[in-house]
Amino acid sequence: MEVIVTPDAESMGWVATRLIADLVRRKPRCALGLATGSTPLRTYRQLIQLHREEGLDFSQVVTFNLDEYYPITPDHPQSYRYFMNENFFKHINIPLTPRDGNRRWGNTYVPDGTAEDVEAHCLWYEERIKEEGGIDLQLLGVGSNGHIAFNEPTSSLGSRTRLKTLTQKTIEDNARFFDNDMSKVPKHAITMGIGTILDARVIVLQANGEKKADAIARAIEGPITSMCPASALQLHPEVYFVIDEAAASKLKYRDYYDHVQELKKHLRAPRVEG
Ligand code: GLP
Repeated sequence: MEVIVTPDAESMGWVATRLIADLVRRKPRCALGLATGSTPLRTYRQLIQLHREEGLDFSQVVTFNLDEYYPITPDHPQSYRYFMNENFFKHINIPLTPRDGNRRWGNTYVPDGTAEDVEAHCLWYEERIKEEGGIDLQLLGVGSNGHIAFNEPTSSLGSRTRLKTLTQKTIEDNARFFDNDMSKVPKHAITMGIGTILDARVIVLQANGEKKADAIARAIEGPITSMCPASALQLHPEVYFVIDEAAASKLKYRDYYDHVQELKKHLRAPRVEG
């Protein structure tokens, strides 16, 4: 587990951007696990910049998004499909032609908020990830209640893709995207499970701002508990917590994390820290 504290949100974005860009260059047909929310937006903007300025090539990359509200249509401006198309996919050279209903757009997968048989769709989603050889790098944000994707507190740490009921806290947090009207926020979501997320080869969790400080302290230094789904990441062999100063403000071992990063500048440190 590596904790990388950055001076601000922009540099937080760049750390994840570089990890993703390195992977895409090393393995052009990689599978990226992607997230929505305001946190990863900088990384998407920066990756678009690398695509435009340095020709970073996404033509063979396959992507799987973590989650989608349910029910919701892909053309709804708050659907995660719409978010991904508008903020990232349309601006890079990833194949994006819809086929197979709403289940797949080119090389990009987002759970289908219009699926009639949700259970079958969730199984299919898991199968597709497996058939692509598993997720190479999963980008994550964190909810202020410690959720990852839409795995709310008390989610099974071994859970797979399924329908989840959103907590009141998440509905409150996300109402800002629905005209500040909680009644407009869908009550459910289809989400990869914690077990699905832990199967990714590398995990990069980003968080910025004081509102995330509690969740980050619980995720990194608290006990592993379903009450804080992000704490399950402690079980993963290659996870990077990339957080800004404000999100790091409640960490007790901050000096140690900085010391490790400082030494890494001078040594050729192993890629994986246990
Ligand atoms: C939603 C998403 C999560 C995301 C979280 C935080 O609930 N399902 O994947 O991490 O929001 O969002 P933000 O980055 O806007 O704080």
